[in-house]
Amino acid sequence: MTRKLAAGNWKMNGTRAALENLSAIAEAHTAPSVDILICPPATLLMQSAGLTSGKPLDIGAQDCHAQASGAHTGDISAPMIKDAGGTAVIVGHSERRENHNETNDLVRQKAQAAHDAGLIAVICIGETLEQRESGQTLEIVGDQLTGSTPEGATPANTVIAYEPVWAIGTGKVPTLDQIGEVHDFIRKSLTDRFGEAAQDMRILYGGSVKPGNAAEIFAVSNVDGALVGGASLKEGDFSPIINALEAAV
Ligand code: PGA
Repeated sequence: MTRKLAAGNWKMNGTRAALENLSAIAEAHTAPSVDILICPPATLLMQSAGLTSGKPLDIGAQDCHAQASGAHTGDISAPMIKDAGGTAVIVGHSERRENHNETNDLVRQKAQAAHDAGLIAVICIGETLEQRESGQTLEIVGDQLTGSTPEGATPANTVIAYEPVWAIGTGKVPTLDQIGEVHDFIRKSLTDRFGEAAQDMRILYGGSVKPGNAAEIFAVSNVDGALVGGASLKEGDFSPIINALEAAV
C-alpha cells in the first residue's frame, strides 16, 4: 500500500520569511510514517526544495501549464517544476477551475504534462454548494474524476484530492458520512477504470482540515490523507494534522 499523504497547499501566501515555517515542519518530522508534501508559491520552489533536500518532506507546485515550453507568459511548465526540485504539482484546484476557467479537459492535459515530466499529479475535484444541494454531488465528482484523470494514471503518479468547494477556507466540513460516501464512490470509479491498482491510489480529503477535526476525518473509509490549505502554513497547525494521519489505521 502506498503511504498516506499529508499535503499542504500554501496558495498565494508566503515570502522568503515563510521558509522558517517550512524548516520547522521538516524539523518536527524527521522520520514520518506518512508522506509529507508542501506546495509553496512558485517563487519559493527552488529554495524550498534546497532546504528540504535529503529530508522526508517533498516540495510541489500549485499549477503547471499543459505544454512543456513555449510562448506562455507567466506560466510555469511541469519540467520547470521538476528542474526546481519539485516532485509533485496540484492541478485542477477549484480556485483555478473557477478563477481561470479551467475545464476537466485542460486539467487532464496538465496532469498528463506532470506525468510526462516525472511529477506526481495531485488532481483536485469537488462539488459546489449549489450542486450538493441539488443532489448532483456524485455526478459532478464522477465527471470531474473521469475527465481530469489521464489514462496512464497509477498509484505512483496520481493522487486524487476530493475538495468540496464550499468547504475550502470556510470552516465548514461535510459530515463524516458525506466524506465517506464520496471517497467510496471515487475508489469504486477508479477501480472500474484502472482495476486493482486503484486500491493503492491515494484519495485525499481537503477543505477546512484542522488539528481539531483531522483524526475523525482520517478514520473515514478510503481517506488516505489530506490536502490542507490554511492549516498548512504554520508548523503548529500542520504538525498535529501529520501526527493524526500517522496515528490513523
Ligand atoms: P483550506 O484549503 O484547508 O484552507 O480549506 C484547502 C485547499 O484549498 O486545498
